[in-house]
Amino acid sequence: MITVTDKVFHIQTKATSYIFRILEEGYLENLHYGNKIRVTDDYSPLYEKHSTGYGMEVSYGQDKTLTLDNICLEYSSSGVGDYRHEPMELKMPEGSYSNDFIYKGYELYEGIYKESEKTHMPYAMEGEDQVKGEIKEEKEKHKRNKEYIDASVETLEITLVDSLYHIELVLIYTCFYSSNIITRRVKLSNNTKESIVINKIMSMQLDLPDSNYTVNTFDGLWARERHRNETKLHSGIYVNDSTTGASSNRHNPLIILAGEDATEHTGSCYGMNLIYSGNHYEAIEVSGYHKTRLMTGISPYHFQWELKEGDRFYSPEAVLTYSFKGKNGVSHNFHHFIQEHIVRGEWAKKERPILINNWEATYFKFNESKLLKIAKSAKELGIELFVLDDGWFGQREDDTTSLGDWVVNEKKLGGSLNNLVNKINKIGLSFGLWFEPEMISEMSDLYKIHPEYAIKVPNRTPRLGRNQLVLDFTKKEVRDYVIDAISSVLSSANIEYVKWDMNRHISDGYSGELKERQGEFYHRYILGLYEVLEVITKRFPHILFESCSSGGNRFDLGMLVYMPQVWTSDNTDANERVTIQEGTTYGYPLSTMTAHVSASPNHQTLRSTSLETRFQVACFGVLGYELDVTKLSMAEKKIVKEQIEFYKKHRKLFQYGQFDRVKEIRKDRNTAIYQVVDEEKSEAISLLYKRLATPNSGIDRLRVLHLTTDQQYEISVRKQKISIKQFGSLVNQVTPIKIKEEGILQATIDQIYNLESEDERYQLFGDMLAEPGIKIKQEFTGVGYNEDTRVMGDFSSRLYIVKKR
Ligand code: DGJ
Repeated sequence: MITVTDKVFHIQTKATSYIFRILEEGYLENLHYGNKIRVTDDYSPLYEKHSTGYGMEVSYGQDKTLTLDNICLEYSSSGVGDYRHEPMELKMPEGSYSNDFIYKGYELYEGIYKESEKTHMPYAMEGEDQVKGEIKEEKEKHKRNKEYIDASVETLEITLVDSLYHIELVLIYTCFYSSNIITRRVKLSNNTKESIVINKIMSMQLDLPDSNYTVNTFDGLWARERHRNETKLHSGIYVNDSTTGASSNRHNPLIILAGEDATEHTGSCYGMNLIYSGNHYEAIEVSGYHKTRLMTGISPYHFQWELKEGDRFYSPEAVLTYSFKGKNGVSHNFHHFIQEHIVRGEWAKKERPILINNWEATYFKFNESKLLKIAKSAKELGIELFVLDDGWFGQREDDTTSLGDWVVNEKKLGGSLNNLVNKINKIGLSFGLWFEPEMISEMSDLYKIHPEYAIKVPNRTPRLGRNQLVLDFTKKEVRDYVIDAISSVLSSANIEYVKWDMNRHISDGYSGELKERQGEFYHRYILGLYEVLEVITKRFPHILFESCSSGGNRFDLGMLVYMPQVWTSDNTDANERVTIQEGTTYGYPLSTMTAHVSASPNHQTLRSTSLETRFQVACFGVLGYELDVTKLSMAEKKIVKEQIEFYKKHRKLFQYGQFDRVKEIRKDRNTAIYQVVDEEKSEAISLLYKRLATPNSGIDRLRVLHLTTDQQYEISVRKQKISIKQFGSLVNQVTPIKIKEEGILQATIDQIYNLESEDERYQLFGDMLAEPGIKIKQEFTGVGYNEDTRVMGDFSSRLYIVKKR
């Protein structure tokens, strides 16, 4: 609910309040963002009180006590005495960098921003999340208010105008009531006769009156994405950004600012993200007055945008949230928002199929017969979708050729694509296909005909990444070519899934199209990409699209608007995945993260992990398999079959249940506990993951949160298979029959026989489950083994299933 009382704007979500007021001088002072407070006639207790001004400071206007450097502002102007990091740098008509944006008026209406479509960028949609009844009650309480809106999604536009030129800046706030999310963005319009130049324009600025925060960022590189890092903020500026042309695997646009005493479960935390897939920029400044300023938007890196007479510029939409329930509280808000307002189309809120992907099974070396063998085995295991990855087109036998030539290699596939898809469908699997539409190989027919389609600087040799160049998506003819080429493949057969890959960073940023306006290159590339995605995803609405960029190099809210799921990382090692997936959950729900069971030793780390751990970690995401299933032993096939049955039974819970990090791996770097709970609080599943075995390291306690306290539940451990090879030369201590230690017989028996893990079950009420929780069975400590021993070892795990009685 948004209310306007006199000169105060109050945006209320279900559990938060965001309040700002218009000062006499026309600036907007932020009064509060945090826990929900009631609407009142008197907000003056929240005003900052300045009676004398401050030494050395520049005062603004007639009021000598107003110094813009020491007040929480909604969006700062430049050159008027606020010396903190500025949200916008403009070259004004007279050539100066000074501007002065003053309040002009507001507009309040139901629904999302009315010009959302005109931005040509992805945006949060209104969705079906209606909570009118609840809001109506609040409305009754505040009858006296001047103006309010009765809707679950509302927008407030505040128009500011420069005090000298007719340049308008509109601050746009959209309230997503039940997600506890407020989005922000700006629109800048040049209504003067001369051009102005934008060097920097942030989507939002948020000034908090205090400091003492820790910033959580999600950083990494290829195969090591979104590792959470915590940095205590001190005086100065902290920057998190991307300059690679994509949101990047280096620094995700997601930020969580945690208050002094905040934990995973308690305390004040702010969350911030950006609905954008290109270069982004987040800055946090702690000022000398101990105030904290946050901002996010398009990165100013190589950015410059000319705004001619009558032109306007829209920033991407920034996403803000607050929770006093710690970092998990912030994650709940983001997850809810993404399910309700970001992911859309036929696959939104729908259970996702379990797939088999041939990449790590065959890489480029496959033919029709190999693919069909994999598909048949996959079907027997219960898999639902077959995905043909890289290597099916042009002359592509390795990564040096053919990108851009989206023509089926019929020799390799043994016939047309349609023929292969029909065969796969006949086996009983749906069919999916890999593309990398934004790229071009120098060794390709496309490059021979259109070398000018590739991004490069005139007279310079462009730098290659994975032996390839990037297509210039700022050019219409390139976009049209890609749309036609991809559409024609997609129309040629019954394709029900697409993996949209992008395997290099952009370098040599330049487009002949843009002439002297090269500062627009990176943003126009992304606008071009969005146009292509819009056309293709609308044209093929039944296809499930999965975004990929060498794994999670473009895991962002912009891509999620078009593609409901993302290949989380090329790193499929279960142990690494725990850190990567955990980091990802801070901002993104499990239904958006795909996770595959792959071979052991793992192809990225050469680490060996058990099949059960690989599965149980992948369960906390959208499950798939990516290994040669034809080579599984009988015992392994039996395990995988049971895994798939188990996942199918609980799929909705794993993909759409409320997720919590009960204990994050980052805490002691060795143990993690995650859980999912359904909406009705009738079912939950917890994962216990242990990195390294340490004998006698203390008891393990399993707490399951957010259940109904006075409801009785049954909890049991998922029985899993334990390889007798795990016992090495201890084997005769654990098996009833005598076998030669580490001999051929042990290996042979292992192919057909596994030990059963311990059984463990309890009945208890939700309150006891939450706190103190269950002291689970003793872990193997090297002294003895019986059926009650919890055999773990390194990289081990258990799933616990909780059911309402
Ligand atoms: C990178 C992706 O992340 C992989 O899964 C695979 O699709 C390869 N590209 C194929 O080239």
